[in-house]
Amino acid sequence: MPTDIPNKSTIAIVGCGKVGTCLGKFLSDAGYPVAGVASRSMASAERTAGIIGIDRFSDRPETVTAAAGIVLITTPDDAIASTCQHIADKGGVCPGAVVLHCSGALPSTLLAPAKASGATIGSMHPLQSFARIEVEKNPFCGIVVSVEGEPAAVATARAMAQDLEAVCVEIRTEAKTLYHASAVVASNYLVTVMDLAFQLLESAGIDTCDVLKVLKPLIDGTLANIEKVGIPEALTGPIARGDVETVATHLDQIGSLRPDLLSLYRALGQATVGLARAKGLEANRAEQLSQLLDSAP
Ligand SMILES: NC(=O)c1ccc[n+]([C@@H]2O[C@H](COP(=O)([O-])OP(=O)(O)OC[C@H]3O[C@@H](n4cnc5c(N)ncnc54)[C@H](OP(=O)(O)O)[C@@H]3O)[C@@H](O)[C@H]2O)c1
Repeated sequence: MPTDIPNKSTIAIVGCGKVGTCLGKFLSDAGYPVAGVASRSMASAERTAGIIGIDRFSDRPETVTAAAGIVLITTPDDAIASTCQHIADKGGVCPGAVVLHCSGALPSTLLAPAKASGATIGSMHPLQSFARIEVEKNPFCGIVVSVEGEPAAVATARAMAQDLEAVCVEIRTEAKTLYHASAVVASNYLVTVMDLAFQLLESAGIDTCDVLKVLKPLIDGTLANIEKVGIPEALTGPIARGDVETVATHLDQIGSLRPDLLSLYRALGQATVGLARAKGLEANRAEQLSQLLDSAP
């Protein structure tokens, strides 16, 4: 259920990239008045203002944040602290405002200059991969948005998450680093693992344009198995079965045809032996596989 529109504060977006633009667009659609948007370049600010349907944009963030009850700093992580400091120094923080950033890794305490100017501070991290500015449909619908910070900031972030149709999860400030590491593995490293699979398939002579089509049913089936039976039960394949010879032939062929891919194959194989053991693979088979995967090419 969306929260009450009359209680919605005016928002300002600072950093008109992928996350900032999507937040601005869908919070505006959810009834939040937008005081304005600011970015490093006027071109980005103007584009985002156009997407939201407002005419207030700037490359001086303090000019749009001064009138906002909620400031969302959506610059790259490295620019959050300096941007916040700049806004505070220029008198752009309205006392009583809520200032939030969207980094998954960094704590809200980074926004101390805004707190010193009378704002309450927090962070609000959408647990999704935004590879482009997506405004065709609400990218926040059904995803987790994790929030942390001072109680008033958390309450505001929670209401916004609800209005974006996301699922709000409150996390401890100290937990952010490992939380973010988990997200990096689930999203970014998944891309790396898929790339390994794609490259091996291409080396086998399958057309580049077909590799995703070939592997997608297998990927989907594996995810469905994880959902159904969990880990390690979802693990199948030669390591789970203890097929030492099969794994040896993989190592042979990869070593001669794609030696550049061998170390990642070995490292993932080693981790998989641990899971196979947890699923019930007998100890001596696990040891043989482990030694095989360990040995020098
Ligand atoms: N992308 C994701 O998948 C994702 C997911 C969850 C959370 N996040 C978080 O969301 C935040 C934004 O990430 P993003 O992917 O949206 O980044 P992005 O697409 O690179 O956009 C960042 C924007 O900030 C602007 N900017 C850079 N330095 C600035 C400064 N000093 N002052 C004002 N604006 C400045 C850039 O400006 P110009 O275009 O004007 O040069 C750019 O448009 C980060 O904290 C990130 O960790 C990202």
